[in-house]
Amino acid sequence: MEKTYLEKIEESAAFLRSKVSDLPEIAIILGTGLGDLINYIDNKEAIEYKDIPNFPVSTVEGHSGRLIFGELGGKRVMAMQGRFHYYEGYDMKQVTFPVRVMQNLKIKKLFVSNAAGGMNKEFRVGDVMVITDHINLFPENPLRGKNFEKLGPRFPAMTEAYSAKMIALADKIGTQKGMRLMHGVYVGTSGPTFETPAEYEFFRIIGGDAVGMSTVPEVIVANHAGIEVFGVSVITDLGGKDIKEVPTHEEVQKAALKAQPNMTSLITEMLRQL
Ligand code: HPA
Repeated sequence: MEKTYLEKIEESAAFLRSKVSDLPEIAIILGTGLGDLINYIDNKEAIEYKDIPNFPVSTVEGHSGRLIFGELGGKRVMAMQGRFHYYEGYDMKQVTFPVRVMQNLKIKKLFVSNAAGGMNKEFRVGDVMVITDHINLFPENPLRGKNFEKLGPRFPAMTEAYSAKMIALADKIGTQKGMRLMHGVYVGTSGPTFETPAEYEFFRIIGGDAVGMSTVPEVIVANHAGIEVFGVSVITDLGGKDIKEVPTHEEVQKAALKAQPNMTSLITEMLRQL
């Protein structure tokens, strides 16, 4: 008989519990071009997605699929190197499956990072933007369908989808380190197209500061699961009516690589001070 959703989550989590002795309370999802943080994790244990029962396997260039357990900033963490994007063809339950497994493993805090296009006129390529809120423009909500009370409420609030406490900690560290740390609202879209100039303009007008093709589904499920979230976007390109540059995947990866040291140092120091 086909396993149920809850059974699949339990099976994946049980597998990880059998592999990893000291489980963390903090998880990290790394976005496009932002995998370098992995190199700073000590006492690493890596588990390939393909070896975890029920886990989807990531396909896109620049995303390897592994879960890394280890220590960062003096804390036990599990990091996802490579995430599942809706545009790859995964459904919303697959995109957010790892977050359900985190919930089952009793993860309390989730750090998410992504590459995003900037609409805010003050932003420059290479900026790090602390996500203060999001606008969900994906065609589907990951919580659509039967609700399992065990996993969270039918109608979860999204009032503080991104932890105010963690944002305050990021700001404190940004100031200490003299970092240029922006704040903004992340607009999540399905992709895989980058935006038309009119779309970038539209997203700015409705209150967005940056746009990307990930994060929102995972953050919705994390909130449903009672996991506290901190998110950062690395601004890899700029979009708007007066901007003529054409964004490419290569450019996004290159810009993300450049901003990595700032993002890595912010997250590592936040972990240290948690
Ligand atoms: N649009 C959508 N997703 C993105 C962008 C963008 O401009 N840059 C990086 N990810």
